[in-house]
Amino acid sequence: MTVLADAEVVAEAVAERLLQERRGSDQRPLGLATGRTMVPVYAALRRRFDRLSRPEQQAIRQGWRSFNLDEYVGLGPSDPRSFAAFMAEQLQGPLGLALAQVQLPDGLAVDSQQEAGRYRAALKAAGGIGLQLLGLGSNGHVGFNEPPCGPEAPCRCLALSAATRAQNAAAFGGDAAAVPARAITLGLAEILAAERILLVVTGAAKASILRRALLEPACPEVPASSLQHHPRLEVLVDGEAAAALPPAR
Ligand code: GLP
Repeated sequence: MTVLADAEVVAEAVAERLLQERRGSDQRPLGLATGRTMVPVYAALRRRFDRLSRPEQQAIRQGWRSFNLDEYVGLGPSDPRSFAAFMAEQLQGPLGLALAQVQLPDGLAVDSQQEAGRYRAALKAAGGIGLQLLGLGSNGHVGFNEPPCGPEAPCRCLALSAATRAQNAAAFGGDAAAVPARAITLGLAEILAAERILLVVTGAAKASILRRALLEPACPEVPASSLQHHPRLEVLVDGEAAAALPPAR
């Protein structure tokens, strides 16, 4: 685990890792996340991308393939609250990527469970995730894998918990009831199948759940605790998020 001074320093470090990944020889797709934690990460990525030479930018554009973790059921790209709109605004548009290079589950699919199956199959056909970027939900979810959730859970459509709808209410005018009741998410199964995982956690509000996720025995009540068993998990946090961890770590 790496503890850095603050969320900005963390964001710069994560952005650098993502760019390195796209420059590297592993051309498996990136696994991408949304949420407030990722806003400074993608801002740093855009700044770094802008400083690259034209040929370097072109190489990254050509090789880009990413699969996002999740999407709200009922929201499509034209809704600014959808994760598709978030990704279009934060990365796809600014980096000049084609829409098809930045994949998300389709929140407007007629049959959400079938869409989850299609998304899982599309990811498998693309070779699975190389580097999976993850944030951490306040209730211990990753993607939208709500507790209780074990490591074998596949990509699926599921009901969001009251805690998660409250956590994400800010994007919906502060009204938790306006947050969609269901979402499609990659499962812990697909997340744990990634070759490498980069968990990014910032802010004092995540300190106690981060401690539970990393230090307590893995359990379905804290879905992120399944990450402990991943052989190539890297954790990047700021000082505030690390506050509840023993100092030696
Ligand atoms: C959201 C997303 C997760 C995200 C997490 C943390 O609900 N589904 O992918 O990592 O919760 O969000 P935030 O970074 O806004 O705290």
